[in-house]
Amino acid sequence: MPRHRGTRDMIRERTVTKTGDQKDTVQSSRRIMDEKKTPFCATKKCLLIVFVGLLIAMGIVTAITLLAPAVRGRFPPDLPWWKTSVIYQVYPRSFKASNGGKVGDIKGITSKLDHFVYLNVGVVWLSPVYESPMKDFGYDISNHTDVDPLFGTVQDLEDFIRQAHAKDIKVILDFVPNHTSDRHRWFQRSIDMDPKYKDYYVWRNGSNDPPNNWVSVFGDSAWNYSKTRDQYYYHNYLSAQPDLNYRNPDVVEDMKGVLRFWLERGVDGFRMDAVSFLFETKNVSHNEQPNPNFKCPLNTSTECKKLFHYWRHNYTMNLPDNKILIDGWRAVLDEFERKDGKTRFLLAEARVTSQAVRDWWFKTGSDMTFNFELARAVYKNKHCGGTCIRDAVEKEYKDLPEGAWPNFVLNNHDIRRVTSVRDRNFVNAFNMLLLTLWGTPTTYYGEEIGMVDIAPTFAQSVDPKGLYYGEDLYLNFTRDKSRSPMQWDDSSMAGFTTGPATWLPVSDTYTDINVQKQKNSTDMTPIKVYRTLAKLRQQESFLYGKFSYAVVNNNIFSYIRKAKGFSSYLVAINFGDVSSVDDYSGEPVSSEVGTVVVNTANFKDDTYAVKKVISLKHISLKPGEGLVIKL
Ligand code: NOJ
Repeated sequence: MPRHRGTRDMIRERTVTKTGDQKDTVQSSRRIMDEKKTPFCATKKCLLIVFVGLLIAMGIVTAITLLAPAVRGRFPPDLPWWKTSVIYQVYPRSFKASNGGKVGDIKGITSKLDHFVYLNVGVVWLSPVYESPMKDFGYDISNHTDVDPLFGTVQDLEDFIRQAHAKDIKVILDFVPNHTSDRHRWFQRSIDMDPKYKDYYVWRNGSNDPPNNWVSVFGDSAWNYSKTRDQYYYHNYLSAQPDLNYRNPDVVEDMKGVLRFWLERGVDGFRMDAVSFLFETKNVSHNEQPNPNFKCPLNTSTECKKLFHYWRHNYTMNLPDNKILIDGWRAVLDEFERKDGKTRFLLAEARVTSQAVRDWWFKTGSDMTFNFELARAVYKNKHCGGTCIRDAVEKEYKDLPEGAWPNFVLNNHDIRRVTSVRDRNFVNAFNMLLLTLWGTPTTYYGEEIGMVDIAPTFAQSVDPKGLYYGEDLYLNFTRDKSRSPMQWDDSSMAGFTTGPATWLPVSDTYTDINVQKQKNSTDMTPIKVYRTLAKLRQQESFLYGKFSYAVVNNNIFSYIRKAKGFSSYLVAINFGDVSSVDDYSGEPVSSEVGTVVVNTANFKDDTYAVKKVISLKHISLKPGEGLVIKL
């Protein structure tokens, strides 16, 4: 922060020297008399003073005009780093192996710190790197305060955080509070009825059957029988991921301890996993009711009833008690903020099923809740054009509660890559959208180069979610598709590892789509479009400027971004399946011309070349083409 300069003026004292010289006294009294005769402002001295005064005034006016943006820049909202930065999600298993292994590791990520700098992203979120039997690839934690040897050591993580900070990059870790691994010592002790741990998980009696009809996210009953306790435990995910019991104050305290452990090691915040499911209703005699909107992909009703989405989840999802917990975690972060004055960030991964649920999450201590509406829109409708994208965007912006901050996500490790759902040629269009909307964007690794899904064989497939459906259907559900190794270059294994094998197959697109090739190309490749947009996003108009829709139709989605006192921009993208020629000059653009600042680089000629002044009355965009235009 620049130090404030006070407004204190320095006053120079002028000393008048008295002399005893008579002559001088006479001459000076004559001068005084003469001056009395002539009005002061007709003297040369006055003219000189007026002239110098004018010069100074002009100088001040010029300086203010030139410095205006910088000066005004101090008045806009004081935005914390998580509002001004792009969040980049690293899935550690797939990012970079430093040791020739099949799986990525922390040292590998550290070796790629300059990649984040190159991209102009300011926050790196690491999916779990903690000790884990890896049944759910790290989301089944057996020790929250240790790093799995597969990924390295706590020291490696501390080194990563330190080196990231040195490059002005924040680090947020995944915090997985809903469940642990069944190999966690708490669960082992809970099974053994250790007095401290016996109620650490959600245990209930059941005669021959589970206590109720609740079904887990990965399919089948959410209750698993323990012979040792002759009881069932509840698991919202795999049976190897028992749910913690937050009605037990010791669990609450222990999980706060986990946060403190990592905050002490320098992390800047957490992405909180599966927080919609932290509490379930106490009375487990309630059965869930079927969800009338669910279209079952399976053949028989018995099979369908085993699927999570077959049911509503009124007794296990988004219960009001969640708020108290999240607020408690916020308070832990605040303890650290108070100590060093640095902002800490909490980001919720929650199931937002309606606007009311969205607004409810804004009231918790979480700063932001992932907004998957854009991704959802593209999955639901492979041809999601301008109006369809607008509807998804509007779900986030509509009636946003006072002080709430929006965000957008297109891809992550649980969903297919949108470039595969839609079309690989839309990569720049999607990145242009993500990086110019109002709100914090989250980019999933590989999105910057337009990586596409892989299609592993059943034998290569490892994700339990897909395997549940068996060989015929696994490809429709597996999350392996979007978890393939990062494509760094065109050497074998795409530069992900120097070893002979990888945990999931490398996409066969890697010789064509990779970081090195795109960086070295003289063309405006996706990675270059990405970094240009991420840099542009740092301008006031994109950071916090007003957002207003411009031309929106079946193909085109366009909008204006403008912060008071700064240039305004028109963003126009064709998300349709056919070309579209449109007139953007009317309201709210109200201008006939503008200058191209970024284009999606798939234009065949230079009609819309960067720096070119173009007419807004007639812009022709093909599917996947988009422009950012300075007005
Ligand atoms: C959400 C995570 O994103 C997903 O990968 C994981 O399987 C579940 N939560 C369970 O932790």
